[in-house]
Amino acid sequence: MRRTQIANAPIFLLVISFICWTTALASICSTNGLPLVRNINDLPQSDFGRAGLSHITVAGAVLHGMKEIEVWLQTFAPGTRTPIHRHSCEEVFVVLKGSGTLYLASSAGVKHPGTPQEYAISSNSTFHIPINDVHQVWNTGTDEDLQLLVIISRPPIKVFLYDDWVMPHTAAKMRFPYYWDEECYHFPKDEL
Ligand SMILES: *[C@@H]1O[C@H](CO)[C@@H](O)[C@H](O)[C@H]1NC(C)=O
Repeated sequence: MRRTQIANAPIFLLVISFICWTTALASICSTNGLPLVRNINDLPQSDFGRAGLSHITVAGAVLHGMKEIEVWLQTFAPGTRTPIHRHSCEEVFVVLKGSGTLYLASSAGVKHPGTPQEYAISSNSTFHIPINDVHQVWNTGTDEDLQLLVIISRPPIKVFLYDDWVMPHTAAKMRFPYYWDEECYHFPKDEL
C-alpha cells in the first residue's frame, strides 16, 4: 500500500501542476474554471500603457464570450482622459464616483467632429453616446478619481481615434483589437 502511494506521487504532482496550469491559463483569457460569482477586486486590471487609467473588463466578448454587450469598470485619476474617439456601437455610462467632463460632437453631415459640446458629469450621472458620435471623457477634477461603469453593445469594440477635433473622420485611425482585447483576441485564421 505504502509503496503504491510513493510510486503514484510523481503522477499526482503532475496532475496537480496540470490543473494549476490550465486554471492559470483560464484566468487570463476566459472564465472557464473560475467561480460564477467573482469579487470585482480580484479581476485583472491594468492601465494598458495609459498612465492614470485603471480598466477592468467585468464581462467581455474576448475574455468571457459575451455576444451582445460588454461591461467595463474604469477609473481615471485627476487629469486622465480617454482619447477623442468614435465607435459604431451603443455605449452607456454610469458615473460611480468623482466628476469630470464629457465632450461630445455629432458625426452627422460634417467632415470632422468640430467643437464638441461640453457636459459636466458627476457621481450618479448617467448618459449614453449616440452611435458613431465622436466623444471624450475627461477627469477634469484635481483631487478625486472618476469611476465609471461602461456598457457597450456589439463587442469586441473597434475604435476610431482622432488626434484632435478638427481631424477629418476619414483620417481617424482604426484600432482593433482594442488595448484590453489584444492579449486574448485571436484573429480568425482565414482573415489575414
Ligand atoms: C449617489 O447615489 C447614492 C445612492 O442613491 C447616494 O448614496 C449618494 O449620496 C449619491 N451621490 C450624489 C453625489 O448624488
